[in-house]
Amino acid sequence: MKIGIDKIGFYAPDMYVDTEDLAHARGVEPGKFTVGIGQEKMAVAPKTQDAVTLAANAANNILTKEDIESIDYIIFATETGIDHSKAAAIYVQRLLGLNDYARSIEVKQACYSATAGVQMARGHIALNPDSKVLILASDISRYGLKTGGEITQGAGAVAMVISADPHVLAIEETSVYKTEDAMDFWRPLYSDYAYVQGKFSVDQYINFFQDLLDRYKEKTNRTFKDFSSILFHLPYTKMGLKALKSTLEHADEEDRERLLTNFDVSKRYNAIVGNIYTGSLYLSLLSLLERNTTINEGERVGLFSYGSGSVGEFLTGIVQPNYKDHLFTDQHDAMLNKRQKISVEQYEEMYEDKIPAGEGNVELDASNDPAPIRFTGIKEHMRQYENVSI
Ligand code: COA
Repeated sequence: MKIGIDKIGFYAPDMYVDTEDLAHARGVEPGKFTVGIGQEKMAVAPKTQDAVTLAANAANNILTKEDIESIDYIIFATETGIDHSKAAAIYVQRLLGLNDYARSIEVKQACYSATAGVQMARGHIALNPDSKVLILASDISRYGLKTGGEITQGAGAVAMVISADPHVLAIEETSVYKTEDAMDFWRPLYSDYAYVQGKFSVDQYINFFQDLLDRYKEKTNRTFKDFSSILFHLPYTKMGLKALKSTLEHADEEDRERLLTNFDVSKRYNAIVGNIYTGSLYLSLLSLLERNTTINEGERVGLFSYGSGSVGEFLTGIVQPNYKDHLFTDQHDAMLNKRQKISVEQYEEMYEDKIPAGEGNVELDASNDPAPIRFTGIKEHMRQYENVSI
């Protein structure tokens, strides 16, 4: 039985900072951010968007009534969740009116956890072929103003429906994975900002990719010829490019050109949204599927998932017939084109304007937020949300 991605959607908040403006404000040569890091725009979340609303907005437009009835497992992958105890999936379940007879949970392992979710979903569908699983990968990336990691921030969410006989990408059985205790990136419970050993995280990521690709090749006897594209978790787009190039040294010219060309297509959305942590790899997949003009049914795509700390996995999928008919390209184009550019000063002001920790009652004015699903405040320590599309 084929199991995989039947639908895939995403949501990014309606504001962004231009990375050239950020470079000027930080006294950095713009080429460092646009070429050296490979980022053009960085999505900025308003106060009325959090991991829950970003995920709910990503899923809102892709689910039919039939999906809403069939989904019986909601897996929310995040590292910027809103509660130490209650799963963010439960809020989304209510906001979207999903079936009560569903299992709703949250999973964590830095940027890797959505892939754990995909594998959990595959197991669930294998046992229950008529059901569907909703995977939500949603985050707001924050390293702090004027830090080395500032340019690698962003915000957004990817939503995927995993089912039998998927219309978009069938996930193949063989994958290889690895865990190693490393402190390349982490965020202690008391901190709003991530801690990162930047250069070490890049080395760790590249070493994981090389190791897992070798292991996969050994296990399957496949070579670059068997892949139309290899996609990456992209905290910033240059990171994936460095990892890919590090393995292409001995590749033949045709393989090298194909993989680099398709990588270029796959980084498009990531370059204009920024780092969305758990959803980043799947945003890159979406970018490839929606923006390419050459990939045909039956072609194999490799996906390198990485979460600092560190867990990595190399998995693969086969592109399905008429997959383009099952994407939401026009909707995503419209959403991205409607976004407003804000100044670095506005971004800094929004960044500092936080709800103080422990505040039990807050009212937010969400009337300027064009997203249908919004965070509207806190009452007696309970977060309040609204969905104005129903
Ligand atoms: N034009 C073009 N490229 C330029 C440039 C210019 N004017 N100026 C610098 N660059 C290039 C550098 O050569 C370098 O390229 P390379 O990586 O191919 O060597 C790149 O820009 C980055 O420069 P560097 O001096 O290494 O940047 P930095 O010290 O500010 O650190 C990061 C960059 C990515 C390490 C830092 O932003 C960070 O820590 N980010 C978070 C890391 C992360 O997300 N880890 C994720 C865990 S998965």
